[in-house]
Amino acid sequence: MAKGLFLTFEGCDGCGKTTVLHHVSKLLAEKGIPFLLTREPGGSHIAEQIRNIILDRKNVAMDPRCEALLYAASRRQHLVEIVLPALEKGMLVLSDRYLDSSLAYQGHAREIGMEEVYSINLFAIDGRLPDLTFFLDLSPEEGLLRIRQSADREINRLDLEKENFHKKVYEGYKILLEKYPDRIIRIDARQSIEEESRQIVDIILQRIKD
Ligand code: TYD
Repeated sequence: MAKGLFLTFEGCDGCGKTTVLHHVSKLLAEKGIPFLLTREPGGSHIAEQIRNIILDRKNVAMDPRCEALLYAASRRQHLVEIVLPALEKGMLVLSDRYLDSSLAYQGHAREIGMEEVYSINLFAIDGRLPDLTFFLDLSPEEGLLRIRQSADREINRLDLEKENFHKKVYEGYKILLEKYPDRIIRIDARQSIEEESRQIVDIILQRIKD
């Protein structure tokens, strides 16, 4: 098993994950702790190309299982090319999304089934689960509100469809929280970015000490 610490960050769209990660990175850098910040889908040249296929708006005909396989393929490449080498060097790796995104989005929200999505992902990650996962808990209603406020636009039909989808994603994450209480830590995302980040960094520092 690799020597470093593999931490993943999860949450619904609009939960502020990227901003929090930016802040957490700043705090870790101030403390002189070396780390690698990366993201999914993407994070490496090949994985980014797969990301473009998945997120391309023209690919509306994409089958849900095809989507799940592409996420898993992108994850595999990112893991082998970026995450594992850094862990081998004993580094702290922070990944913006990982396995649990597929379980919540494809498994639960797209209704493929969490077990099915887990099994294809187990093949992709070859058993490399995160050491710790932070779930930034913000209700989908609040998340979408934040997205709309920042985008400053009107609610359209797609937004409404999305609302139902995001409710299911949130439901999926809640199931995962219950299923993996030792691995997934819930962070209240209604706190200020500073408080949230401090809480996360404290947990990371404790983990490093242990
Ligand atoms: P991105 O622009 O990176 O959004 P975010 O900042 O919220 O991570 O787009 C990633 C989208 O892909 C996001 O809506 C979540 C979704 N996703 C899945 O559906 N399954 C997955 O396995 C992953 C990693 C992401």
